[in-house]
Amino acid sequence: MLQEKEQYPAQSALHDTHSIYGWISILLHWVTAVVIIVLWFIGKSIMTVDPENVDAQRQLHVSIAASAWLVILIRVYWRFRSGHPRINGQTLLIHRIAKTAHYAMLIATALMLVSGPMMVWSGGHPIAIFSLLSIPGPFDEAESIRDFARFVHTNTAWFLFWMVLLHIGGALKHLMFHNDDTIARMIWPGRQKTGAR
Ligand code: HEM
Ligand code: HEM
Repeated sequence: MLQEKEQYPAQSALHDTHSIYGWISILLHWVTAVVIIVLWFIGKSIMTVDPENVDAQRQLHVSIAASAWLVILIRVYWRFRSGHPRINGQTLLIHRIAKTAHYAMLIATALMLVSGPMMVWSGGHPIAIFSLLSIPGPFDEAESIRDFARFVHTNTAWFLFWMVLLHIGGALKHLMFHNDDTIARMIWPGRQKTGAR
């Protein structure tokens, strides 16, 4: 079964197999990786810009986050739905460690998607997307919810930061020191580095 799946032509590989990321996973990974990194840095800059620019910076963060919200949610759902491919030649232990780290990042991402809107709505504001759309909150202003949501958003953002740093470091380590297809398979379905099993 696995053998059959892995033999399909790479150009039609939309979905994942047991050891290959398909185009849907690859596109979702890179698009959301860029968005999450951008959101992180804009988010962190909210409190460091000049005081008169704080609102505009927060507004920019919320607008980008809300525009990408559904895509990021689909990205998280997609990984849990399609399982986690295992790199050819990877030991079961390393596979489990990588998978756990990836799922932890996905859960953290989902927490950002929930705590962000909660923070805005419980502050008594609608979610405004680039002055184009305004989504009012489903509940009234509530300081305790806002404080809790801010606590979750800020701390999960730090957790995500360290995990992504570790993640990128791990990917670079594979690129430089291992002869496997860790990076290649996240660029093109079924692409193998020479010498990878
Ligand atoms: C994966 C997606 C997201 C990432 C990576 C992210 C990241 C961040 C970061 C790093 C901060 C700064 C936290 C701090 O003060 O230390 C922040 C703040 C903030 N985020 Fe997000 N965020 C995301 C999604 C969202 C969403 C979906 C919304 C709402 C629609 C949102 C609304 C806000 C707001 C309002 C603040 C400012 C909080 C304050 O004024 O104290 N974020 N975000
Ligand atoms: C330049 C930055 C990045 C590089 C070079 C990179 C590289 C990779 C590579 C090579 C894989 C496949 C590894 C494997 O399956 O064992 C992977 C998977 C993954 N990456 Fe990244 N990544 C980056 C940014 C991010 C960011 C910002 C996130 C944020 C959450 C992220 C989350 C994930 C997850 C959850 C997986 C598991 C497969 C999936 O669901 O897409 N990555 N990454």
